[in-house]
Amino acid sequence: MIDIEFVRSRFIKHFDGKTGNVYTSPGRINLIGEHTDYNGGFVFPGAVDKGITAEMRVNGTEDTVMAYAIDLKDRVDFHLDDPAGPKASWARYIYGIAKEFQKLGVPVKGFNIAFAGDVPLGAGMSSSAAMESCFACGLNDLFGENKVSQWDMVLAGQATEHNYCGVNCGIMDQFASVFGKAGCLMRLDCRSREFEYFPFKPDGYRLVLLNSKVKHELAGSPYNDRRNSCENVVKAIQAKHPEGKFETLRDCTWEQLEEVRAEVGEEDYTRAHFVLGEKDRVLAVCDALLAGDYETVGQKMFETHYGLSKEYEVSCEELDYLNDLAKENGVTGSRIMGGGFGGCTINLVRADLYNKFIADAKAKFAAKYGHEPEVIDVVIGDGSRRLC
Ligand code: GLA
Repeated sequence: MIDIEFVRSRFIKHFDGKTGNVYTSPGRINLIGEHTDYNGGFVFPGAVDKGITAEMRVNGTEDTVMAYAIDLKDRVDFHLDDPAGPKASWARYIYGIAKEFQKLGVPVKGFNIAFAGDVPLGAGMSSSAAMESCFACGLNDLFGENKVSQWDMVLAGQATEHNYCGVNCGIMDQFASVFGKAGCLMRLDCRSREFEYFPFKPDGYRLVLLNSKVKHELAGSPYNDRRNSCENVVKAIQAKHPEGKFETLRDCTWEQLEEVRAEVGEEDYTRAHFVLGEKDRVLAVCDALLAGDYETVGQKMFETHYGLSKEYEVSCEELDYLNDLAKENGVTGSRIMGGGFGGCTINLVRADLYNKFIADAKAKFAAKYGHEPEVIDVVIGDGSRRLC
């Protein structure tokens, strides 16, 4: 986690010398359940020990926000009443959360904010959700008497992505960042929003991320196209079955998908095929985890990678290569993590194979692509909170 004193020193330097309150929110991993959240399915994320830390203080103005992104050394001031909002993409997360909180009836006025992060950007670990939930946590404390519920913070984060950042994401990332608990993964049913904490301490195994450093960027990307494909399939199934209620792919069966195959076309069909399979895999992984059967967990992870790569088509050459290296090294399970189009693989590896795997993956990846993958050991941490 980012050192509080580091953030504080910048906050003091860039504003009027006064201190504020400090908040932090984490990025996330996801064991399995990719692109299922906006399809009403299950996800299996956990918060990590890396994220965004912000110092914030009410500045007494009606609507002026003075914001400093410490890592980028970039200062942006903007007005909450400006309907266009700031141009800088990082400042739009602050603007978006403030606007969404105002919609909830929270009387957000002017404030100062400086923030820094240690969750790698563009690695598919949800640095953007970490920002949203951190800013939400701060605004809730500064202006909302902490009456905004955790779920409303999650939804304000998601609405910020939809309304101000151009990504029609689901709720997994913001959920994990707000609700995370040290040592626990969470199984979330994205339709009912019920969830359970799963203590995760796989005896004799380690979870490690390998960051390909191919920058993953969801804004304006084919992410939204994937979501549209899923929605097209649901619409086609609904039209065929007017007696039923089909809101998302969660409500659809394999048979119904086959029925609309010709009508929706191969691309939409194949994408929906992945989602139905992924929905089943999350449940299989939960059963396997309860039984301590990590071999099955790993096998499902490989199946997910295959589906994300060949059916959902959100992989890239570098991620497929990292997956091949995992297989070659006898890693139990490995797959693309997060939205795809770059970022990390998540690997479940036996502790006795760990060193050899990492050394081999680094050397071979560097020989092929000119740089080593970044190795990120996963520590499951707590969700959004005020630090001081
Ligand atoms: C991104 C989105 C999430 C989710 C994942 C894929 O991280 O923000 O809502 O859809 O991709 O599982």
